[in-house]
Amino acid sequence: MHRWRRWCIGPVNMKGTGRWSFSVLIRRPCRTTRREVNGATAFPQRTGTCRMAYVAKIGPSILNSDLACLGHECTRMLDCGADYLHLDVMDGHFVPNITFGHPVVECLRKNLGADPFFDMHMMVSRPEQWVQPMAAAGANQYTFHLEATTNPGNLIKQIRESGMKVGLAIKPGTLVEELAPWAGQVDMALVMTVEPGFGGQKFMEDMMPKVSWLRSQFPSLDIEVDGGVGPDTIHKCAEAGANMIVSGSAVMKSEDPRSVIALLRNVCAEAIQKRCLDR
Ligand code: DX5
Ligand code: ZN
Repeated sequence: MHRWRRWCIGPVNMKGTGRWSFSVLIRRPCRTTRREVNGATAFPQRTGTCRMAYVAKIGPSILNSDLACLGHECTRMLDCGADYLHLDVMDGHFVPNITFGHPVVECLRKNLGADPFFDMHMMVSRPEQWVQPMAAAGANQYTFHLEATTNPGNLIKQIRESGMKVGLAIKPGTLVEELAPWAGQVDMALVMTVEPGFGGQKFMEDMMPKVSWLRSQFPSLDIEVDGGVGPDTIHKCAEAGANMIVSGSAVMKSEDPRSVIALLRNVCAEAIQKRCLDR
């Protein structure tokens, strides 16, 4: 029997009221409803006769897009099949580069409407400082770096209380075992596959054991990879167990981003199905 899937999308601006409200959208029907696994929210998926708690999702990073037309670039990606938008926030301190902050996110939310999922990749030294502004601006997920805080537990609580989902990222030099104690409390773990700071860098294949280990320990967790991911490297990520795929240059610079997004998703979905059948 079908039940309606309820999808919580976080704070949205209520039209005409100027107020921000926490919204729950009713999406298409599915056979199962969302559940908590290891403390993380998961959306079961039917893959043939198997059901996995996570699905393949592709999130273009707009860092290398034409920033003069950011709203248009985001719309272009969504029209080409992006499942979510990966928005890179850099403060020039945690990483040697500066991008944008919550005022830009607020404009994007107004421009794009309530639907698109904004995954905020917070490459900032004081992630605690931007939780409320990002929630108010319309962010859906707040992904902070483990290296940037001395109190991850408190920050996770702060993010949840603000109504956003929680992502936890580690740089290439950070051991995955340092992330593990928090994995049961977050919605998503991000394994960086380049040094954060710039798009267009070379994919670090030696990060894949981190992804494999996380997948083996946390079978239902959303695991994201970010940096140098495209048609040439997606197979490694998918085999290792990543299901949230950030891709910047490979999608943005393609003449056919729709095909690239579809290819990334297909490779990832096939790996999920294979893992499901192998269980
Ligand atoms: C790098 C950013 C990435 C980057 C990805 O620090 O976090 O999101 O934009 O771009 P590509 O896919 O080009 O490495
Ligand atoms: Zn990123």
